[in-house]
Amino acid sequence: MQRDHFPLMHYLTILFFVLSISSLATAQQTQSYISRGSSLTPTKTSSWLSKSGLYAFGFYQRGNGYSVGVFLAGIPEKTVVWTANRNVPPVSGNATLLLTDADVRLVLQTEQDQDTDIADISQTASYASMLDTGNFVLYNSDGDIIWQSFAYPTDNLLPTQILPAPNELFSSLSLTDQSTGIFFLRMQRDGNLVLYPIGNPIPEYAYWQSETYDMGDKGSLNLDLDGRLYILNATGFTSKNLTHECLEDREPYIC
Ligand SMILES: *[C@@H]1O[C@H](CO)[C@@H](O)[C@H](O)[C@H]1NC(C)=O
Ligand SMILES: *[C@@H]1O[C@H](CO)[C@@H](O)[C@H](O)[C@H]1NC(C)=O
Ligand SMILES: *[C@@H]1O[C@H](CO)[C@@H](O)[C@H](O)[C@H]1NC(C)=O
Repeated sequence: MQRDHFPLMHYLTILFFVLSISSLATAQQTQSYISRGSSLTPTKTSSWLSKSGLYAFGFYQRGNGYSVGVFLAGIPEKTVVWTANRNVPPVSGNATLLLTDADVRLVLQTEQDQDTDIADISQTASYASMLDTGNFVLYNSDGDIIWQSFAYPTDNLLPTQILPAPNELFSSLSLTDQSTGIFFLRMQRDGNLVLYPIGNPIPEYAYWQSETYDMGDKGSLNLDLDGRLYILNATGFTSKNLTHECLEDREPYIC
């Protein structure tokens, strides 16, 4: 098997960050409280920064167009960690992302006059916030979270983010194309964490597993601020530490 085919590192970027905060680009706005009526466009104010400036939510360049997501703004290489509607083609520079003022929703407006919901919410949002954890959050008027990007993971797990069973991370097609790729990591109801190829999510085709079974149906994959990756069982006990584990029959890229 070629190095390029090594599954964990290449296709599923589970990122661990210990990053310093650097200067902020001009096209971004430091605003952790995003009020109704706020908007972004790809070429003017293109994103809302978290307080520390490390993360941003908004437009990022994808191919010849722009997609909406969360990315690391505090480093030169703007690493995308979450994408909204990842399998929808990028939009042109004329699009607008708007936290609408009336029936408060987060919508992407394109010149074809089509409004696409970025967050699927049943309640009216009151304000939004780009948190320093990388979580983009919508709140109701009571300050309760009604939607958060952490609950809709794409291909990344960020420190403090939890992947509860049953949930998956799907690899991206490539480093520059965040649409769904060909592998996924599933936190299963039985407590096992398994890597499968899309289309064949059966044990015979699983190419890695944590071997943590029979934990009840509320197990979860956790990544803490120290970069420890571990599985908790339904009652909150560590059933496996993954960070120190090496894959036996491969080069030890992650140990
Ligand atoms: C954006 O809108 C302007 C003015 O309506 C138009 O001339 C231009 O072609 C549009 N750009 C794209 C990429 O669609
Ligand atoms: C979780 O692990 C602890 C410690 O091993 C165990 O006592 C508990 O029963 C487990 N919980 C479930 C739901 O399996
Ligand atoms: C996992 O690591 C933590 C911290 O190093 C340790 O306290 C715990 O006992 C470990 N659990 C297992 C199941 O290995």
